[in-house]
Amino acid sequence: MASLPGSRRTSERPGRRPSEFATRSRHGSIDPSRLIPIDKSSAIGGGEDFNVVFIGAGNIMFGSPEGPWNHSFRLEHKLGPRLKVVALIDPNIERAAHVLQIKCNSFVVSAYGNTRVFRNLEEFIKHMNPRTDRPKAFIVGSPPMFRGTTQTGRDIEMQILKHFPGVAMFIEKPVATGPIAELQESFEIGKMIEKSKTICSIGYMLRYLKAVQQMKQILVENDLTVMSTVARYACAYESIAKPDWWDKSKSAGPVIEQGTHFCDLSRYFGGEVDISTVTAHSLEWYENAGHLSKMQIDESKILEENRIPRVTSAVWKYSSGAVGSFTHVVGLQGTNYSCELEVFADGYSLKLINPYVQPVLHLRKPGDDYEQIITFPDDDPFFSEISHFIDIIEDIEEEPESSQILSSYDDAVRTYELTWAIREASERSRKAKEQKSTA
Ligand SMILES: NC(=O)c1ccc[n+]([C@@H]2O[C@H](COP(=O)([O-])OP(=O)(O)OC[C@H]3O[C@@H](n4cnc5c(N)ncnc54)[C@H](O)[C@@H]3O)[C@@H](O)[C@H]2O)c1
Repeated sequence: MASLPGSRRTSERPGRRPSEFATRSRHGSIDPSRLIPIDKSSAIGGGEDFNVVFIGAGNIMFGSPEGPWNHSFRLEHKLGPRLKVVALIDPNIERAAHVLQIKCNSFVVSAYGNTRVFRNLEEFIKHMNPRTDRPKAFIVGSPPMFRGTTQTGRDIEMQILKHFPGVAMFIEKPVATGPIAELQESFEIGKMIEKSKTICSIGYMLRYLKAVQQMKQILVENDLTVMSTVARYACAYESIAKPDWWDKSKSAGPVIEQGTHFCDLSRYFGGEVDISTVTAHSLEWYENAGHLSKMQIDESKILEENRIPRVTSAVWKYSSGAVGSFTHVVGLQGTNYSCELEVFADGYSLKLINPYVQPVLHLRKPGDDYEQIITFPDDDPFFSEISHFIDIIEDIEEEPESSQILSSYDDAVRTYELTWAIREASERSRKAKEQKSTA
């Protein structure tokens, strides 16, 4: 008996047999057939308002020409007329007012008609009406340098936990971009979130790709152990015009800021990384092969020690014994990135290509030397991650394992730790080489 999408959980329903995948799957994956495209899903029912607070009025929240992200759009679709954005918090109140105006001039005005703009959370707390404004969820899309720590002004998670206990949080990746010395603070936040049982989802949306879940399904159903993950992320640097992105002191570098998605996916398949094993090399801006001819920013304005590497290549061991590798390249022009992740297990290779734009899975199985090519039209991982987050808050489930948060705060901190370990290892190798050449 199929249940309607969006129906409320009715505990154990008699006569329902979970799918084979559900019974066999490990926690942390979703039956790919349960990932419903945005255009095939209808807004969830129930009459009550669903109050949301947005933190950050930037690209991730309201969209940008650079990519398909836009959380407000997915929430509007998921919640329909129930969505009420009670506050939009951003120190840049002009930007916030501008995006709000656009929403109010559109057909989704019912969600934004009463939205108030605040510079920070304290202002919202001071002016909120506890009866009508209490949020059910915070969507946090502020830059990572303003979160992920226990320090005043960069501790939005702690502030939410303190003033809004029990209220769910969706937080963008990476969890932070501060100095490595602050990593333990991020782990502490993860512990507090876990201890308080707060629903919290981190924006590693690639985990929600149908292709990724199909890869998981193949591994689980065939009882496979991952032997190796091979990840490659080549960005189109010509289209990256944000000066901060090119400055390690601002964005922490391309592996921590951008490659993080693929380090996270590698961990999703390979498991925990033995951080002490991470080794890496980089091609730097001052090396001949690192010269880029089509940069859109003026790199001479960035201090030499803060300029980003053009290539970073890392290898590590997982706790399972498997080997992982990741190469990040700042080398392509135009606009399209070239990204691939290959997962090897006995007899199998599962190669995910172009996950951002048009995911394709190349699957090689025992008994066939040729790869089968599987495509996933109309998949929208940004919708799936938001949809699952809301379903968990609303306690909506069709099968015990069908609604899941695939990226917890603590898990995301581990990805952050891996990306920092890669950066540090590459810097160590660079220094060692420099010392050798000056000796
Ligand atoms: N998952 C993805 O594919 C994806 C895509 C884009 C962005 N992101 C992530 O989203 C986050 C934001 O990126 P963006 O592209 O929207 O940046 P952005 O620069 O477009 O917007 C950030 C906004 O946050 C505001 N802000 C600054 N400090 C703040 C604070 N303390 N509190 C509230 N707001 C504050 C800024 O004024 C700005 O309006 C980053 O972590 C980024 O990595 C993820």
